[in-house]
Amino acid sequence: MESHATETVYRGNLDRIIAKIRDERGLDLAQYRARYVERRLASRLNALGLHSYRQYAAYIDEHPEEYAKLIDALTINVTQFFRDASVFEVFRSQIIPRLLEDKRRRHQRMIRVWSAGCSTGQEAYSIAMSFLAGIGEAGSHFLLSVLGTDIDSKALEVARRAEYPSEQLAHIPPADRRRFVEERGETFVIRPEVTRVCRFQRLNLFTDTPIHVVDVVFCRNVFIYFNRQEQDRLLGVFWSALARGGYLVLGRSERIPPTSAPKFELVNGRERIYRKPPSHP
Ligand SMILES: C[S@@+](CC[C@H](N)C(=O)[O-])C[C@H]1O[C@@H](n2cnc3c(N)ncnc32)[C@H](O)[C@@H]1O
Repeated sequence: MESHATETVYRGNLDRIIAKIRDERGLDLAQYRARYVERRLASRLNALGLHSYRQYAAYIDEHPEEYAKLIDALTINVTQFFRDASVFEVFRSQIIPRLLEDKRRRHQRMIRVWSAGCSTGQEAYSIAMSFLAGIGEAGSHFLLSVLGTDIDSKALEVARRAEYPSEQLAHIPPADRRRFVEERGETFVIRPEVTRVCRFQRLNLFTDTPIHVVDVVFCRNVFIYFNRQEQDRLLGVFWSALARGGYLVLGRSERIPPTSAPKFELVNGRERIYRKPPSHP
C-alpha cells in the first residue's frame, strides 16, 4: 500500500517536471520512454546531490544553464564506425547491389540516404564509404547524397569536422581505411571523396519536418528511447520519406511494432533491415 502511494507521488512529480521542461523549453520528454527519462533524470539528480524532482525543478529555476546539461544527458551520443559490423556486411553485399541494379533499370542516377539520429557522424560516413565502394566496383555514374540529422548540435559539429581519434580506426574495414581515411598521428580525417557526399543538419525527429524522398533510412539506436506511440508515428514518417522499394535499417535491439508492421516488408530479420514495398509492375 505504502509503496504504491510513494510511487504515485513520485510519478506525479515526474509528470510535473516533464510539463515544466515542455512549457519552458519546448522539449517534450513524454515522447521518450518513461523509464529512459527517469534514468536520465536520475543521473542529473545524482550528479547534483538532489533527492526529488521537486528539488530539481527548483534547481532548474535558479540555474537555467542546467537545461543544456539535461539535454546532454538525454542525447546519448554513443556510436561507432560500422556499428554492428554484420549489418554493414549485409548492407554492402546484398542491399547496395540490389539498389544499384534497380536504379540502373529505372535510369536513375541519384541515390539518397538519410541517417536519422546520426550523432557524431560515424554512421553517415560508414554508409557513404559502403556505397562509394559498391558504386566504384559497378563502374557507374551514380550520384550519392547522405544526409545525417540529429537533435544535438554539438554532435553535429563533430560530424562536420570529420576528424576522429585514431582508436576508432580499428572499426573501419582495412580496404575502406586505405581508400577513405587519412591518418594524422593521434587522429584521422575522412577524405573529401566521402565528406563531399555527406551533409549534416539539425533535426528533431519529434517535431521537425522530415526529409523527402530517400532510398534508404538508417535510424539505429534512437528509436529505442521513444515511446510506442512515437515509434509508430516515426515509422509513418519514414514510410512517407522512403521511395517505393526503399530500405529502412533499424538498430540491433529495435523492431517494428505489430501496429506498423503492415507498412514494411521484412528483408533481413537478424539485421533489422526492412523495405517499403515496391510498386506493382
Ligand atoms: C545512441 S545515438 C545513435 C547513433 C547512431 N545512429 C548509431 O546507431 O550509432 C542516439 C542519437 O539520437 C539522437 N536523438 C535523441 N532524440 C532525438 C530526437 N528527438 N530527434 C533527433 N535525434 C535524437 C541523440 O542526440 C543521439 O545522437
